[in-house]
Amino acid sequence: MEAGRASRTSLIQNLPNMKFFIDTANLDQIREAAELGVLDGVTTNPSLMAKEGITGKNNILKHYVDICEAVDGDVSAEVIATTFDEIIREGEQLADLHDQIVVKVPMIRDGVKALRYFSEKGIRTNCTLVFSSGQALLAAKAGASYVSPFIGRLDDISSDGLDLIAEIREIYDNYEFETEILAASIRHTMHIVECAKLGADVMTGPLSSIEGLLKHPLTDIGLEKFLADYRKGNS
Ligand code: G3P
Repeated sequence: MEAGRASRTSLIQNLPNMKFFIDTANLDQIREAAELGVLDGVTTNPSLMAKEGITGKNNILKHYVDICEAVDGDVSAEVIATTFDEIIREGEQLADLHDQIVVKVPMIRDGVKALRYFSEKGIRTNCTLVFSSGQALLAAKAGASYVSPFIGRLDDISSDGLDLIAEIREIYDNYEFETEILAASIRHTMHIVECAKLGADVMTGPLSSIEGLLKHPLTDIGLEKFLADYRKGNS
């Protein structure tokens, strides 16, 4: 749609930077990505916390603070609660931990209500477990700061996750929704490149997917030749 294209152009002019988040609770990997100088934030989820052996409420809350200190950017911290009152209570506690915390809320009925509540309170949110453009539209209507379509998990069931990114981009551009499209469940480097072509605002993936962007065999061959020629001329 022409109007959507025009509005995307102006959006690109205002936001020239595709944000890179790392999807892990591993502090070493977060620091490594931060040292590369391209990291804009971190996303976590209960599975990623468990993978690092972080269990028990106090340890989990402390780990979120440690992550915030390891990165200069947004850190998504997911609620475990599934009822409105509990999501609010848990989300407010997470938001109070650190300015960088973004409260991650699942795309369920009470989650949508909570997105609206948090939006009115000025608490930033990431609506997670999004698998359809209808869910993404609802999240934007409810005032989510980020929406997380899980592209890898759609690919896993023979449904093209990248098509979902394109659909959400078109819908958000049609109405100039400010909710940022955070392409999640990125599995590899080409997912990042394709998301960039489609205009995802943010991608979150493993360190390997980010480091994969570095690699090209012709770079290695070219560098080897430059260094060999230098050595020949300076021996
Ligand atoms: O950001 C969501 C992500 O953690 C899910 O990734 O690889 O478990 O589908 P994955």
